Amino acid sequence: MAPAPALVLIGAGKMGAALLGGWLAAGIAPGDIAVVEPQPSEALEKLAAEKGFALDGAPEPAQTLVLAIKPQMLDKAAPGLAPWLDSESLLISIVAGKTIANLSRRLPARSIVRAMPNTPAAIGRGITGAFANSHVTPAQRDRAQSLLSGVGAVEWVGSEQAIDAVTAVSGSGPAYVFLLVEALAQGGEALGLPPDLAMRLARATVEGSGELLRRAPDSSAETLRKNVTSPGGTTKAALDVLMAQDGLAALMARATAAAAKRAGELAG
Ligand SMILES: NC(=O)c1ccc[n+]([C@@H]2O[C@H](COP(=O)([O-])OP(=O)(O)OC[C@H]3O[C@@H](n4cnc5c(N)ncnc54)[C@H](OP(=O)(O)O)[C@@H]3O)[C@@H](O)[C@H]2O)c1
Repeated sequence: MAPAPALVLIGAGKMGAALLGGWLAAGIAPGDIAVVEPQPSEALEKLAAEKGFALDGAPEPAQTLVLAIKPQMLDKAAPGLAPWLDSESLLISIVAGKTIANLSRRLPARSIVRAMPNTPAAIGRGITGAFANSHVTPAQRDRAQSLLSGVGAVEWVGSEQAIDAVTAVSGSGPAYVFLLVEALAQGGEALGLPPDLAMRLARATVEGSGELLRRAPDSSAETLRKNVTSPGGTTKAALDVLMAQDGLAALMARATAAAAKRAGELAG
């Protein structure tokens, strides 16, 4: 009989597929991976045949199981998941809003990591906030760190509740940045620029500034901002508006508080 799989991925949708791609690129042996996906795409079937990871197969308790299904699928999926786990397994859940208490009521794993990635994971540039319960051993935590790193950086938080704040900042954050592009383009339009030109300017500005930030890991965002703000200049004139008492920081504090509150309401 084949040995139990080391790593099982449940759900190869957007986020699951990104993780799988990261693991294969990082050199995890495909023979150690099993993927469970009720309706595998042609691309997934082709990848499984090419790389040699298992698609479905009979469940056996795995060393690590990564749960990447939609929250609303959990009720239906949970009974079928239990045979993939035992009390020694590490469960890593990226299922939004599903608490460790909820998962441990349904599933036999004791060591549980709850993680919140974000959409740039699709290009390996995500950031994931993760919390490990008290049963997670140092070796299991290292394993979770290395698996979640397949799609970008990983930051550990000290309480499960902090996952709601992570959700409010980085989980939902890409949408705020996209909105910034839209708002900046609208500002350009209001000044008389053709809409398509205003959008190209706004988009390239956010892309380029993000890359600049990435390439200057030792400079704070504040330093980079100050570097482009001459006293009495145009940037300063705009920042005086954005940095007013009721400006962007106050607005962002309200926005992130609303997201964290909603994350808490949805959690269960
Ligand atoms: N995408 C993001 O940016 C993001 C960010 C943070 C957190 N998350 C979390 O990550 C999780 C996955 O999100 P996603 O965007 O990747 O969703 P998705 O694209 O819908 O992927 C979920 C996958 O799981 C499959 N599935 C459903 N029931 C299953 C079962 N019983 N066994 C195995 N596979 C099953 C689905 O198959 P069918 O399509 O056939 O139902 C689908 O392929 C969610 O909980 C989400 O909250 C996502």
